[in-house]
Order: sequence, then C-alpha cells, then structure tokens
Amino acid sequence: MRGKLITLEGIDGSGKSTICRLLQDEKRFAGCIFTREPTTSWLGDAVNRALRSDTDHIAELMLFLADHADHISRLVRPSLERGSNVISDRYSASRCAYQGSTLTGLFEDPLDWVRTLHKGWTVDPDLIVLFDTDPSVAVKRCGDRGEQSKFEKIEFLKAVRNNYLRLAAEDRERFVVINADRPLNEVKEEVFRIIAHALEGRE
Ligand code: TYD
Repeated sequence: MRGKLITLEGIDGSGKSTICRLLQDEKRFAGCIFTREPTTSWLGDAVNRALRSDTDHIAELMLFLADHADHISRLVRPSLERGSNVISDRYSASRCAYQGSTLTGLFEDPLDWVRTLHKGWTVDPDLIVLFDTDPSVAVKRCGDRGEQSKFEKIEFLKAVRNNYLRLAAEDRERFVVINADRPLNEVKEEVFRIIAHALEGRE
C-alpha cells in the first residue's frame, strides 16, 4: 500500500519547525520519513544562497522548483511507493504562498501561476497542516530567535498568510488550518492528534 504524504506549512515564526522536531521525537511517528524543503541537497544549498542574496524572483522560484523536483524523484516518490509515510516541513504550498507574494505585479494572479507550474509532475500531499498565526506574533518570534531573513517582514508575511488562507479555502479536502497563536503544548497536541488520525492503520 502506498504511504501517505503529510506536509507542514505556515509563515516564518509560526512554530511549525519546532513542532516538526517534536514529531520526530515521538514514538508514534517513528516509522515516518521526515524531510523538508528547501532540502539539504546541493539544490537546497543553491536555494539558500538565493535567499541570502538579491536574486531575481523568477530565478529564485525556478531554484525552489528544481529542488522540489529533485526532492520528489530522490526521496518522496520512492518512499511513498515503498509504503512509507512521509512528513515534510514545507512543500508546494510554500511556493504558492511565498513566491505568490514575491511575484506580485508580474502576473495577474501569481499564486495561481505558481500552482499551475506544479501540475502534471508533482506529488500532491494527502494532508496539509497549516499553522496559521498572526504575522505580528510571528515576526516577534523570529526577532527573539535573532533571525531576520528577507522574508520576515510583517507586510510581506501578511500577504503570505493571506495566500495560505486562500489555498486552504480552495482545497478544503486536503488542508487543515490550526490556530498556532496558542501555547505550544496545545498546538502540539492538536497536530499530533490530526496526524495520528490521518495515519491510522498505517503506522
Ligand atoms: P525554512 O528554512 O523552512 O525557514 P524556517 O525554518 O524559518 O521556516 O525556509 C526558508 C525560507 O524559504 C522561508 O522564509 C520560507 C521560504 N520558502 C519559499 O519562499 N518558497 C518555498 O518554496 C519554500 C520551500 C520556502
């Protein structure tokens, strides 16, 4: 039986990566393959270089897409076909939400354009857990961690959040939206329950 693909999404500072680490430490999910985008391959390194510099927005999107294609063929598809469940910290929805914002003004509907670029070759997740958070809380969390990437500005994150909420509204079957402004433990319990339920009978 094919494995399930679950992806975790949200703006910078949403607490998603913290919960992802806790998921990896949890016995119930020990059989899952944990991964992330940008990946840790040389393509992921190229993406991170682009993020640290003033790279053209289309070039940046293409690097993210190249990393995604390699991620799918090298890890995601083979794992699912072997019957393993895969949990990815960020995936296609990050591109739609973030590059859907960086490309504003270049296309009439940048989110939809980015979404279309994935069609026909990507592997769609079975479940997308969206950590929804107030951008002002998220920016504060990023600041407290001493992080300040070019994407961690409040106006930009507001646009990214709106894109995420639009994606969720347009794909209610796959998306689950979590209120991530609550205490970490509450968010963790809810996410663990949702993922355990999605994997029921598979772990
Ligand atoms: P990541 O390393 O996951 O950041 P964090 O751990 O803080 O969540 O991602 C790096 C940045 O790249 C983050 O600001 C989100 C952005 N990003 C995109 O813009 N497009 C994408 O397709 C992906 C996967 C990430």
